[in-house]
Amino acid sequence: MVEPRILVELGTHSGVSYCSFCEAINELRLPTRSFAVDTWRGDTHTQAYGDEIFKELSAHHDDHYAGFSQLVRSTFDGALPRFEHGTIDLLHIDGYHTYEAVKHDFVQWLPKMSDRGIVLFHDIAVRDKPTFEVWRLWEELKIEYPHFEFFHSHGLGVLAVGALIPAPLINLVRASKGEAERIRHYFAGLGQMLERVQSLEWGLRTTQCPAIPNEKRSWSIRIADGFSKRFRKIMKKV
Ligand SMILES: C[S@@+](CC[C@H](N)C(=O)[O-])C[C@H]1O[C@@H](n2cnc3c(N)ncnc32)[C@H](O)[C@@H]1O
Repeated sequence: MVEPRILVELGTHSGVSYCSFCEAINELRLPTRSFAVDTWRGDTHTQAYGDEIFKELSAHHDDHYAGFSQLVRSTFDGALPRFEHGTIDLLHIDGYHTYEAVKHDFVQWLPKMSDRGIVLFHDIAVRDKPTFEVWRLWEELKIEYPHFEFFHSHGLGVLAVGALIPAPLINLVRASKGEAERIRHYFAGLGQMLERVQSLEWGLRTTQCPAIPNEKRSWSIRIADGFSKRFRKIMKKV
């Protein structure tokens, strides 16, 4: 829907969301330059973690995405001067989740957004953890900006902060209540399918089950691989 010229993620950790962005850029051959910003040290929500997370992500990243992407090891504030004002088309905020921290990140990075800028907020649906308050900021922002909200997988808020909303997103932010529910249902279903494919692949590769002979195991792995290739083709069309 959005073909960002510059994409920035604040908060990358092991790279689950960031590598999904990079896969989309690769698959769709987008002309995007992409940046992941993190200290790769953790915070009080993720807990502190060691260098092995950054090393593992770096190795995978450099093999697959180095042509268009950079890992920026820095605080979010420290990375601000690297980006010109008005240049970021897509910003994913997934750092420290207190109200004050997420508001600070939004306010600091807003001037960097382009006139067709979209800000994504992860975890807008988490309301049962006292210090997770992305939902509070989201409630304020959604009064002010055109938006769409997903509730599955802890929730994702899509906020159109630029004066120009990219054409394919107009239908999303203007969806009626019924259409919005159908869109949410559709994407939640795709997410569940992806999780099932992954757990099937992982289970077949890692489970030692003496009842399944080796030739049947490799046959099952081929079926799972075929299924996930077909699934990736479907995702590419979405
Ligand atoms: C919730 S995790 C990110 C999860 C990731 N997007 C994913 O898909 O798995 C939050 C990350 O933000 C980083 N972080 C939090 N506050 C930060 C700050 N002010 N500057 C840099 N990194 C920060 C932490 O080190 C942590 O790795």
